[in-house]
Amino acid sequence: MTVSRPPDSPLSRRAARALREEARGRARESELSTPAESPPTTLPLPIIAGDGAPSRPQPLPSRHDARAAQLLSTDVAPARHARAPRAARAGVAIGLAAAAALLLGSSAAVTALIMEPSTVTDDAGRTHAAARFAPPPLPSVEALPVPKVAQTLATENICTLPEVGDALAAGDDEGVISAAGGGEGFRAAVVSGNAPCLSLADPARIWVVVNKMRPYEPLQYRPDVLVMPDNVRNIEEGTLRPDAASALTGMAAAASQAGAGEIAIESGFRSYTTQRSSYGSQVSDRGVAGADLVSARPGYSEHQSGITADIVACNGGCGTLDDLATSPQGAWIAAHAWEYGWVVRYEDGHTDTTGYLAEPWHLRYIGPQLAQAYHDGGWHTLEEFFGLPPAPGYPG
Ligand code: DAL
Ligand code: ZN
Repeated sequence: MTVSRPPDSPLSRRAARALREEARGRARESELSTPAESPPTTLPLPIIAGDGAPSRPQPLPSRHDARAAQLLSTDVAPARHARAPRAARAGVAIGLAAAAALLLGSSAAVTALIMEPSTVTDDAGRTHAAARFAPPPLPSVEALPVPKVAQTLATENICTLPEVGDALAAGDDEGVISAAGGGEGFRAAVVSGNAPCLSLADPARIWVVVNKMRPYEPLQYRPDVLVMPDNVRNIEEGTLRPDAASALTGMAAAASQAGAGEIAIESGFRSYTTQRSSYGSQVSDRGVAGADLVSARPGYSEHQSGITADIVACNGGCGTLDDLATSPQGAWIAAHAWEYGWVVRYEDGHTDTTGYLAEPWHLRYIGPQLAQAYHDGGWHTLEEFFGLPPAPGYPG
């Protein structure tokens, strides 16, 4: 494996062309959705924190209690795709509400949830017919997958497990996940607030989540080591962190052996400076709102982590990013990338959550255990997978 640390040079004309290609055609897609905020007309000024600054603790997911109640349920189907009959869904919703109330240790709370009082008395002592019982708002069943595994781990602080602490200290991300009970156990612990030693903001970890609401800390973060993946054709700027590089090599070999054809890397690690150039080019081409749908602002791109790869299909010559989806390689990637630790980060139909139009070529490495949980749970965004808020636009 060749180790290199690419300099932060301005984009070459070829790189600029490749980056423009990355976005070309997507603006034609009908799902265009304008971010709720009014984006600024200038690039954000960097706020540079010192390297090694401690990661911010993660706030508890807003639906923590409902999820905790759900994790205690053993008889609700986990599939997110299948829509249960209305009566069944209503029953599940009431059951979840009752379970949540039980978690609070209050039988009165359960009674209040399921009984409908016939009258109420106002401050003046007058009696009125009671308003119709309205259950508290609950998340839809489809939005909350119910894993059948890790129900114990989800109610324990996994950071008290020595194996978790040891693997964390050793920088062994897969070891941490394994000690947490696997990908689903890890996810359940994070979502239920039982992993306080783990930060989804740590850019050196495979579980980092970067989006329009979650910039790098520090903003100009860059991985310590970047390498060129072995046996993968490099189109433009194909360096990756070593774990992601190995995984890309394995995935490309598997695609080839399966008869899907050659996969090449067009763009791997992009520095803060490179991303500032590429985003600036997009702003010049399509304005701020258009650019924000196809390109991340500097300090907000997954490419800056070194564990993200834009891939293309080759058959002799190589196609463009836009060509991937209709190629045999694109079909194989959509079905099998998770087996090698990768997920398609920006899927069609999820712009309201990710803030970006579909990018079938943009693969994010999260490691084999998390990728299996992501696949098995039927997830489509990392935000939902980890119980984070949607990030359709930049704050402010
Ligand atoms: N094209 C993706 C969103 C990026 O710029 O990181
Ligand atoms: Zn990309």
